[in-house]
Amino acid sequence: MCGIVGYIGRRRALPILLGGIKNLEYRGYDSAGFAVVSRRGVESRKAVGRVARLEEKIGDPDRFPGTAGIIHSRWSTHGEVTEANAHPHADCRGRIWLAHNGIIENYKELKRALARTGHTFHSETDTEALAHLIEEFTIRTPGLAIEEAVRLALLSVRGTYGLVVLDRESPDKLVAARNFSPLLIGIGRGEYLVASDASAVLKHTKNVIYLDDGEMAVLTPREHTVWDLRRRPREKPLHEIEWTLEQAQKGGYSHFMLKEIFEQPEAIENALRGRLVPKDGHAQLGGLETVHERLAGAERLIIAACGTAYLAGRVGKYMLEACAGIPVEVDVASEFRYRAPVFRKGDVFLAISQSGETADTLAALREAREKGVPTFGIVNVVGSTIARETDAGIYQHAGPEIGVASTKAFTSQVAILALLALSLGRQRDLSLTQGQEFARDLARIPELMRRTLGVDDEVRRIAAACRDFKNFLFLGRKYNLPVALEGALKLKEVSYVHAEGYGAGEMKHGPIAMIDERFPSVCIAPRDSVYEKMVSNIEEIKARRGPVIAIATEGDQEMGAIADHTIFIPKAAEIFVPLLSVIPLQLFAYYFGVEHGHDVDRPRNLAKSVTVE
Ligand code: G6P
Repeated sequence: MCGIVGYIGRRRALPILLGGIKNLEYRGYDSAGFAVVSRRGVESRKAVGRVARLEEKIGDPDRFPGTAGIIHSRWSTHGEVTEANAHPHADCRGRIWLAHNGIIENYKELKRALARTGHTFHSETDTEALAHLIEEFTIRTPGLAIEEAVRLALLSVRGTYGLVVLDRESPDKLVAARNFSPLLIGIGRGEYLVASDASAVLKHTKNVIYLDDGEMAVLTPREHTVWDLRRRPREKPLHEIEWTLEQAQKGGYSHFMLKEIFEQPEAIENALRGRLVPKDGHAQLGGLETVHERLAGAERLIIAACGTAYLAGRVGKYMLEACAGIPVEVDVASEFRYRAPVFRKGDVFLAISQSGETADTLAALREAREKGVPTFGIVNVVGSTIARETDAGIYQHAGPEIGVASTKAFTSQVAILALLALSLGRQRDLSLTQGQEFARDLARIPELMRRTLGVDDEVRRIAAACRDFKNFLFLGRKYNLPVALEGALKLKEVSYVHAEGYGAGEMKHGPIAMIDERFPSVCIAPRDSVYEKMVSNIEEIKARRGPVIAIATEGDQEMGAIADHTIFIPKAAEIFVPLLSVIPLQLFAYYFGVEHGHDVDRPRNLAKSVTVE
């Protein structure tokens, strides 16, 4: 998730590029850079940190006369946050400059092949490989048009991209291309902008063309042409943006939280891409290579995390124990660090953190390291402290999460824990057939999530109908117990009502005393191995006149008849149901908070990243 802006026209490019990229800052970034081309050649500057740091470095932007240029704000996926890793990336001769959003999956192979033909690389990024690949085509065929070199290079690439290319030898052209990473073209008078997001072009034009996957565009100050990668021309409809700047940043959603809930299918695709290998029934976790042996021989896994990340860890425990037969302990990091944990030979420690900066998780990690335990992390923010201090790790690639209440980071962490369970399982007793079935079921989840998001309207109605309740009980069993805890946590966070998550089997040991007609229960009751038990619990609640909102499997008429409100989710393998069942709970918390007029993106008293104890 990076910001990209390109400009070609009659005006000076740099001030327009800077203005545009600042409107993408909400996406999160860690470094920025630009390249502009003029008669003096290509001029480029990069800086680590916010765009303001780049501006300091630039000084007076009028010093750069180029009328064509590209700018990028990076949210790292490959390589640490350094100036060398910041975009745009160039080829060996500084001719071809590239700003890219997405992941080039086969970049290692490409780099190896290009290094053999004499290319030298200056960054650890996947993007740089593509700049050199484009260069390679221009070397092989002198005089080749830049757009053709880009097209040929893209035919050799596996992965996702939204990209813009600047060529010193064709200063009157920008080449843009898209595959699974958004890109649009803003059409002005005698000028064009390219951007990863409408908010970057709004100041200059409201007329845009959205590129679709597998399309590329060539822009000159006078005209634009769009083709697919087989050189077939594409007729593109012109759209008029009707959003304000703020609406555009939220992609048309009313809040970041809602946008991020809807981004979950894509976040899971990003977590699985290049890692899940259904045909081999395996998961390739490149980031764990350095601890591979110790993990393979691990006798116990200790997970420490906070808040929602902790609850992802609790789902992971069920998955890892079921698939890999490895004992897993999960602890809130703030307890773990102070309870004198006992470590044994064969222990491996896992920290889970969206931000990679949570103080307690970091302290727990340091405690484990001090005791000589091998450590690894599941982290979203590349180059964060936890990512740096663990021996190895798996990045989530979920994109920036802006809403304080975590949503897409949770499901992405659960998906990665599923990959881990598969990988460790296959090193142990999970057979090839079982592994293949697991992988096939997991690969279907993004699509099933998209279908689950169809409950949006229904959940909004239910939240409105429940608006006067002051207490909620969330109940689940087995894989869905942590989901019940997460549902209650979400509701507390964004709507400030009392909500408790409980294992349904524990209900008789206390919570049932609270049940009456003013105390609703949200029951996660998919058709799974504990379905009958959940039905009994729901009957017990109904017998005490407690209102019930059930999350049930599509087609479950029995549940529809018992519960007051039933939200149906698609059928999925039991182990992956948490990735679906959590969605209505996130939406319920969101709409309940909105219904009460709360600032759901920035709930009172909460912070996105808790860097103090
Ligand atoms: C805060 C946030 C939560 C998050 C928790 C852990 O409490 O509000 O949404 O789950 O910190 O954060 P981490 O960045 O370590 O996942």
